[in-house]
Amino acid sequence: MKMIHSITQLKEIVRDQKKSGHTIGFVPTMGFLHEGHLTLAKQARAENDTVIMSIFVNPLQFGPNEDFERYPRDPKRDAELAESAGVDYLFMPSVDEMYPDEPAVTLTVNKRTDALCGLKREGHFDGVATVVMKLFHMTEPDKAYFGKKDAQQLAVIHGLVDSLNVPVKIVGVDTVREDDGLAKSSRNVYLLPEEREKAPAIYKALTRIKEAVDAGETNVEKLKKRAADDLQAHSGAEVEYVDILSYPELEPINEASGTIIAAAAVQYKNARLIDNVILTVK
Ligand code: PAJ
Repeated sequence: MKMIHSITQLKEIVRDQKKSGHTIGFVPTMGFLHEGHLTLAKQARAENDTVIMSIFVNPLQFGPNEDFERYPRDPKRDAELAESAGVDYLFMPSVDEMYPDEPAVTLTVNKRTDALCGLKREGHFDGVATVVMKLFHMTEPDKAYFGKKDAQQLAVIHGLVDSLNVPVKIVGVDTVREDDGLAKSSRNVYLLPEEREKAPAIYKALTRIKEAVDAGETNVEKLKKRAADDLQAHSGAEVEYVDILSYPELEPINEASGTIIAAAAVQYKNARLIDNVILTVK
C-alpha cells in the first residue's frame, strides 16, 4: 500500500491507473478506522482493480461547537488496518493541502437536510458534499462506497451525484455492528463504561419499530412514541430525535409504507451517537 499526501501525486496515480484501464473504487473516511470502514474497503477490493481510501477530518463539516479538534486520530494504526483490508493507495492530505485558501465556491445541499441530523448540524451536509465532490474530482472513481450507518449522508450523496451528473456509482453498505447491536463508530471510544453498557438500547428501540411494522403497525406517531419511550427508559442518554421518514427523500409520513427509515440520535456525556434501520413495508 502506498501513502499519499499530495493532490498532485494522487492525480498522477489516478491518471496512470486509468491509462492502464483499471477501475477505481473509492472509500472516503475520516480515519480512526474500525470494522465498518474496513467492510467498505473490502467490498471495494472485491469489486475494483484499484482501491483508494482517503482519511481526512474535514473541518468544513464540523460546527463551531462540535468535536473537530478532539475527533480521534491514529494514522499509524489506520495505515496498518487499511493495508490489511486491501487498500492500494491511502490518501491522507493535510487541511492546508485540501483548503489552501478560503474556498471561492462551496456546495449547498437543498434537499434531504431539513430533517434528522440536518436540523441540529447546520451546514454539516454542505461541508460533506463539498469535500466529497473535491475528493471525487481527485480520485475519479468508478464506484464510491458509503455506509448506511450514515443514511442521511448516503441520501445526500445520491442527491449530489444525481443533481450534478457526477459519473460515479454510489454503493451503500450495510451497517456493521458490535455483537450486542451497537453500531460501530469512531466516537464509541468516548462512551463511559456505564454508557457503553446501555448504548445497545438505541438499536434495540429501532429494531422494535421494525418488528412492529412487520407485525402490521403503520401509525407513525405510535411507532415513534414507543421508540422514544424505549430510548428514554433504557439508553441512559439524552434523546435528540427519533423519527420515521420516507427514504431516501426524508420526508415526513403519517403512515408507514414503501421504503422508510427509522432513525435516532442520542447524546451521551462525551459522544453523540446515531443509528437507523431502513425497511420496506410490504
Ligand atoms: P466517517 O465517519 O469516517 O465514515 C466513513 C464511511 O464509513 C461513511 O460512509 C460511513 O457511513 C461508513 N461507516 C461508519 N461506520 C460504519 C458502520 N458501523 N458500518 C458501515 N459503515 C460505516 O462519513 C464520513 O466519515 C465523512 O462524512 C466523509 C464521507 C468521509 C466526508 O468527510
